[in-house]
Amino acid sequence: MALPPPTHDESSRFDLAEGVRSFNYRRIVAPLVADHDRRAAAHGVAPTTKEQAGELYADDPAYLFACALQRSMQQLAWRTAVTSIERDAASIEADLKTTVHTQEHSRLELVADRDLPDWYTWHTREGRDDIHLVPGGYWGSDLVGAVYERGGSVYRLAWRAGYDARPGALEAFVRSAPRTDYARVVDLGCSFGGLTRVLRTVFPDAEVVGLDISAPALTYAHHLAERGGQDITYAQRDATATGFEDGSVGLVTAFLLLHEVPDDVRAEIMAEAYRILEPGGTLLFLDIPPYAALRPEQAFFESFDGRGNGENFWECFLASDFRALLAGAGFEQITDGPLDFDEPGYWGSSALWRTGEFDPVHRWVTRAVKPVGVPA
Ligand SMILES: C[S@@+](CC[C@H](N)C(=O)[O-])C[C@H]1O[C@@H](n2cnc3c(N)ncnc32)[C@H](O)[C@@H]1O
Repeated sequence: MALPPPTHDESSRFDLAEGVRSFNYRRIVAPLVADHDRRAAAHGVAPTTKEQAGELYADDPAYLFACALQRSMQQLAWRTAVTSIERDAASIEADLKTTVHTQEHSRLELVADRDLPDWYTWHTREGRDDIHLVPGGYWGSDLVGAVYERGGSVYRLAWRAGYDARPGALEAFVRSAPRTDYARVVDLGCSFGGLTRVLRTVFPDAEVVGLDISAPALTYAHHLAERGGQDITYAQRDATATGFEDGSVGLVTAFLLLHEVPDDVRAEIMAEAYRILEPGGTLLFLDIPPYAALRPEQAFFESFDGRGNGENFWECFLASDFRALLAGAGFEQITDGPLDFDEPGYWGSSALWRTGEFDPVHRWVTRAVKPVGVPA
């Protein structure tokens, strides 16, 4: 199924949202971050925390304007995506229901009437910010896959290039795994399968399984896999209770899962990952850098990004000591750092990390190993 094209009016809104977001990062936020040292000197202070750095900006109309732009452009983009998809709801739903099975091992395992965790649904139920400001979050609409395909490409500042534009960074991330001969690779919080599809390509001989708790996300991921001729199993299972046997997985991955769960759930996921990994097996995560890895003013503007996008667990993850959590779960050889990958012509590249500029893309890799010599 190729999504029906947006109307001219919707395309204009996407252009506006993408253009304003890009302008906001480059022309307002980046100069504000770069102005930090001058402001600190003018006030005779030397901030050591993001809260102290934030005091240098709190009353600045440019900062308040940047916050308003960030949030209202997210709302515009996602609402327009919803409108443009709902217009063709009947045909999209029919396509999803009649996904043609083309692959021998490709499967979709859903659990009928599955209860979703309270922390996952309450923002929507209570009328708070839906995750990413997408109405209904990941679970509230059967059309959410198509909505993300459309709105996600605006979010990535690449809407005319499409949802799958610039997959190079994900591929570089996957290729940073220490081995290529895994028997089984499990992708936690796979959603619509962005990373899972890359895992399938990079590890052609492995069994590749994507897990998520959202049935609509998995249904769309499965549809994309069949359409793309990829053998992938997608299963509706919680990352805290994956159902795999002890020590039966060579590589566990996640892309943008860690900052979308509460602290206690993140701890449970790490314990589960440790349990299912074989001794010597690897954990490989791509997510947002912790505040501790940033200068105070960068951290302040990173928290601005989370608030402007309806990220309900952003703050608790970025303020946490994730490496300590992994060590506590039993992992060894824990390393983290920016993904070393430049996408030519793309503003949010790792070159920005090297020059110390502000990067709105935040690709941060964490790797850990389950020690050998422990019982599987
Ligand atoms: C930002 S999306 C992940 C994007 C995806 N990895 C990709 O490659 O595009 C986060 C996903 O995590 C899922 N999720 C959150 N908590 C989960 C849990 N405890 N178990 C499984 N999936 C979970 C959400 O339903 C959502 O689909």
